[in-house]
Amino acid sequence: MLQTGINIQDIPENGSKGFECRGEKYFAVKKQNSLYVYKNSCPHIGVALEWVEDQFLDSSHTMIQCANHGALFVIESGVCVAGPCTGQRLAPAKFNIVDDFICLG
Ligand code: FES
Repeated sequence: MLQTGINIQDIPENGSKGFECRGEKYFAVKKQNSLYVYKNSCPHIGVALEWVEDQFLDSSHTMIQCANHGALFVIESGVCVAGPCTGQRLAPAKFNIVDDFICLG
């Protein structure tokens, strides 16, 4: 397991945070006390989703949004429901929480 250095207390409720681990980009979303972690790579063309640091959600904070072409993803499943990659999904990352820190693997 890889400790990411990301403390879940630093992620706001209904908020998101990007981070890197072993050269790969990821982001985490906290919603209703659950945490979701995905690779930070849009299935549309394989680039990072955010333009502004740690901003991975739409204005209503109910969907993950890719800043590049506006694709919307369900937070819980990573499935794209609108935009150019509808039907595709974000790649989930396996993780555990150890002493409040996100550990991958
Ligand atoms: S790169 Fe994400 S919608 Fe195009």
